[in-house]
Amino acid sequence: MPITHQGTICYSIEELLQRTHLPPSAVRPCLEDASFAGALRLNDSVYITEDALSDFFARCFSYAGVAPSCYAMPDDLQHAASPWAKTLLEMYRHPFAFGTSLSPQQGRVLHTLVANIQPRNIVEIGSFIGISSIWMAAGFSQDNTDGTLHAIDLFYEIMPCYPYRSGYLKDPLSFAESAANAAHLAERIRFYRMNSYEVGRQIDTLFDFPIDLLFIDGDHSIRGCMNDFALFAPSVSPGGIIVLHDIYPDVCGYKGPRYLLDHVIQDTPEFKVIELATTPRNYGMAIIQKTAHHTRPWHSFGYWKLAHIRLKARIQKTRTWKIFKAHPFVNILKKAL
Ligand SMILES: C[S@@+](CC[C@H](N)C(=O)[O-])C[C@H]1O[C@@H](n2cnc3c(N)ncnc32)[C@H](O)[C@@H]1O
Repeated sequence: MPITHQGTICYSIEELLQRTHLPPSAVRPCLEDASFAGALRLNDSVYITEDALSDFFARCFSYAGVAPSCYAMPDDLQHAASPWAKTLLEMYRHPFAFGTSLSPQQGRVLHTLVANIQPRNIVEIGSFIGISSIWMAAGFSQDNTDGTLHAIDLFYEIMPCYPYRSGYLKDPLSFAESAANAAHLAERIRFYRMNSYEVGRQIDTLFDFPIDLLFIDGDHSIRGCMNDFALFAPSVSPGGIIVLHDIYPDVCGYKGPRYLLDHVIQDTPEFKVIELATTPRNYGMAIIQKTAHHTRPWHSFGYWKLAHIRLKARIQKTRTWKIFKAHPFVNILKKAL
């Protein structure tokens, strides 16, 4: 946790290394560099002031020999005149956008989907800095006057993730709101700084409408994806579409979306699935149509699997489990088996 020193928020080097995965060899030269004025020595520890974080990370990446990455911008986006396209171009320039926000090619898929089906209500789980939100909301036509996108995210501060994402952003919600304004889409996008689990548990009161398009790109753990699906998919209207991002774990490193597809969605006749390869990295996308309301109880949609995952996670957090796991006898038993 950061500390406050004389009214300034400061982060310890240990915390920054842990949160960003930066190698100490990239940090050391920055701290020794006399031209860097953002380091403070307090109680035998080194801290970086909040206003120096962007400079600090840029220097660390440079000392590590890693240039900040950006997606290559397709020609049509570079030369587009509309406010939303210009805003996207600007957003993609920021070093914190790369890797976590979807690429322009993937954004185009979502945009085209919205432009064709003209949903009245889109729910997006995981907006990050708002890039996917803008791609989708820009697909609403003038005639679709009610078309609204509900974008849910925790909107926590964004730290770099070495070596992929450089750049720091204190307040992603303000960033996303300003971008929606600049894109002339502020009236089309409603942002919710909330945990999707909390929204899902109150879905009938918060969202008293059928969802025509649900984009799940939030918590990518098995538990997170199963929760989002179990809580939001029942509100998707028959004929409505659900999009999952990052479905190829070998490329993207996340297991949740694939698990959801293989263990719940593929087994269920009410869902029809198309898997799409994506570029520049094949993280993959699944476009799922919910053809009818569920005729079977929720346990057939993986409810029991979800309950099992939740119970397991709860047990693994207990002290008794940790003591049990650390016991030498358990190791001997594991090896024997
Ligand atoms: C991969 S990013 C989303 C990228 C975004 N869709 C885009 O392409 O521009 C995942 C986002 O999900 C959010 N997230 C993770 N768990 C969440 C949860 N339980 N509730 C709401 N948002 C969550 C994170 O804060 C992060 O911004």
